[in-house]
Amino acid sequence: MRKILFVSSEVHPLIKTGGLADVAGSLPLALAELDQEVRVIIPKYHALKLGDDVEYRCTVRVDNKDVNIFETRLPDSNVIVWLVDYPDYFGHPGNPYTDEFGNAWLDSAERFSLFCRVAVEVSQNRAFLDWKADIVHCNDWQSGLVPALLILEPNRPATVFTIHNMAYQGLFSQAEYVALNLPGQLWHPGALEFHEMLSFIKGGIACADHITTVSPNYALEIQTAEYGYGLEGLLHHRHHELNGIINGIDVDIWNPETDTRIPQNYSVKTLAKKAVNKAALQKQYSLPEDPDIPLIGLIGRLVDQKGIDLVIDCLDHIVEHPVQFVLLGSGDKGFEHRLKNLSYLFPDKIAVRIGYNEDLAHLIEAGSDMFLMPSRFEPCGLNQLYSQRYGTLPIVRRTGGLADTVVDAMPESIADKTATGFVFEEASIGAMLETIKRALLLYTNKRAWTQLQKNAMRKDFSWQKSAEQYLNLYNYL
Ligand code: ADP
Ligand code: GLC
Repeated sequence: MRKILFVSSEVHPLIKTGGLADVAGSLPLALAELDQEVRVIIPKYHALKLGDDVEYRCTVRVDNKDVNIFETRLPDSNVIVWLVDYPDYFGHPGNPYTDEFGNAWLDSAERFSLFCRVAVEVSQNRAFLDWKADIVHCNDWQSGLVPALLILEPNRPATVFTIHNMAYQGLFSQAEYVALNLPGQLWHPGALEFHEMLSFIKGGIACADHITTVSPNYALEIQTAEYGYGLEGLLHHRHHELNGIINGIDVDIWNPETDTRIPQNYSVKTLAKKAVNKAALQKQYSLPEDPDIPLIGLIGRLVDQKGIDLVIDCLDHIVEHPVQFVLLGSGDKGFEHRLKNLSYLFPDKIAVRIGYNEDLAHLIEAGSDMFLMPSRFEPCGLNQLYSQRYGTLPIVRRTGGLADTVVDAMPESIADKTATGFVFEEASIGAMLETIKRALLLYTNKRAWTQLQKNAMRKDFSWQKSAEQYLNLYNYL
C-alpha cells in the first residue's frame, strides 16, 4: 500500500471549474479501491461546498505565515481531503482563478506558492498530521512548485506531475520570484526559470520524477511546437519519463440508468426512453418540442481552446438544416455576446445559456442526440466520454484525447460496430460543417443510429484500467 498525496487546485464536488475537478474527485477514489492510501490537498476557498464533517487538524508555519489545515472526506468515501486555510488568500468569494466578477486574481503567484509550500510540509510529515507521503501526485501549474521544492530535500517522496493543460502555465516576473522568497538554487533554466520568467508549470515538467498527460495522443502533441508553448524541447528531452494515461470518468455520477438529475433514466436496453429527456431539454430551452428534429448539444468553457469561434461561424450554415442547437457555458465575453445574438436571430433553432449549471449539464448529455466538441486542442476532454455513455454521439476534431476516445463512423467501423461518433481533421468551418452534415444524414437512418448509440454506451470509460496504470507508475517510482 502506498501513501499518495494528490495535489490539486480543484476537486469535485467541493469546487469545480473544469475537468481537473472531475479527475481529482474520481481518480483518488479509484486508487482507494485499489487499496492505496490517498489524501487529497486543496486550498480552503470561500466557495467550497462543504458538509458538516469538516474538522480543524493543525496549524503549520510556512514562509512566516500561520496556515491552518482542516480535514473533510470525499462524499461516501474514506478518502481524506486536507484543506489549506489562509483566509487572506483563499477567503474571498470567487473561483480558484478569478474573483466573483471573472477577473483573474492578482495574487495567484502568492496563493499557489503558499499552497505548494504547505503541500511540501504535509508530504514530508512536518505538519503535525503524522503522515508521510511515498508519492506526491501534482496536477497542473498550481502545484508545479512542489516537485521543484522537493528536489532540494533529502528523503523526499517520489513525484509525479500530470499535465491537464499546457495552455495555462503560471508565468510571473523575476521580481515576483524574489518577492515570493523562493530558493535561489531553483532560479535556472533547468528548474523554475523560463526565459527570465518564473514558470510554475516548468517546476513540474523539469523537476518531477515522472510526467504524465491525460491522453497518450496529447503526450506526443506537446512535444511539438504547435502544442508545446516553448516547452516542447524540454518535454521531448524527458520523453522517457513522459507518458499519457487516459482519464476515466466517475461512472456512478455519470450514469444514465441512475442519474438523479435527469427526468428519465434509461439504459442501452431502454434507449427509447431517452426521448423524454430530449423533450425536457427542448422545453428548458424554449425550443419547439419536436422528437424527430436532431438536437446538438455543447457544454464547455467558452475559450479559444474549445473551438467556439468555429462553432459561431458554422451556426449560420447549420441553421439551413432541420436541426436544433443548445449551448451551456461561460467564459470569453465576446463569445458569450455573439452566441446570444445568434440565439435571438434564430430562436427556433439556437438556444444559449450563459453560466455554470451542473443539473443542466446532465440534462444536455441525456437529452441531446449529438454532442459538439470541435476543440483546437484537448488534453483529454471528458464531455465526449460522458456523451458516449449517454448515447449522445460526439462530433469532435481529431486532436488530443478526442482522437483517442471517439471512433469515427466510417463504413468499416459501422460494420464492425466500433463506431461511436464523428471525427474531423482540420480546424475549419468547411471540415466541421461536412462532418455535421454526415452526422445529420446518418441520423435519418434510425437503425444505424441506434447501433452507434449502443456501441458508444457499451464502451468502458471507468477508471479501473487507468488507475492501475497510475499504480504501476507509483510502484515503479
Ligand atoms: P476542460 O477541463 O478543458 O474544461 P473537460 O471536458 O475535461 O474540459 O471537462 C469539463 C467539465 O466541466 C465537464 O464535467 C463539463 O460538464 C463541465 N462544465 C464545463 N462548463 C460547464 C458549465 N457551464 N456548466 C456545467 N458544467 C460545465
Ligand atoms: C483540462 C483539459 C481537458 C481535460 C481536463 C481533465 O482542463 O482541458 O481536456 O479533460 O483537464 O484532465
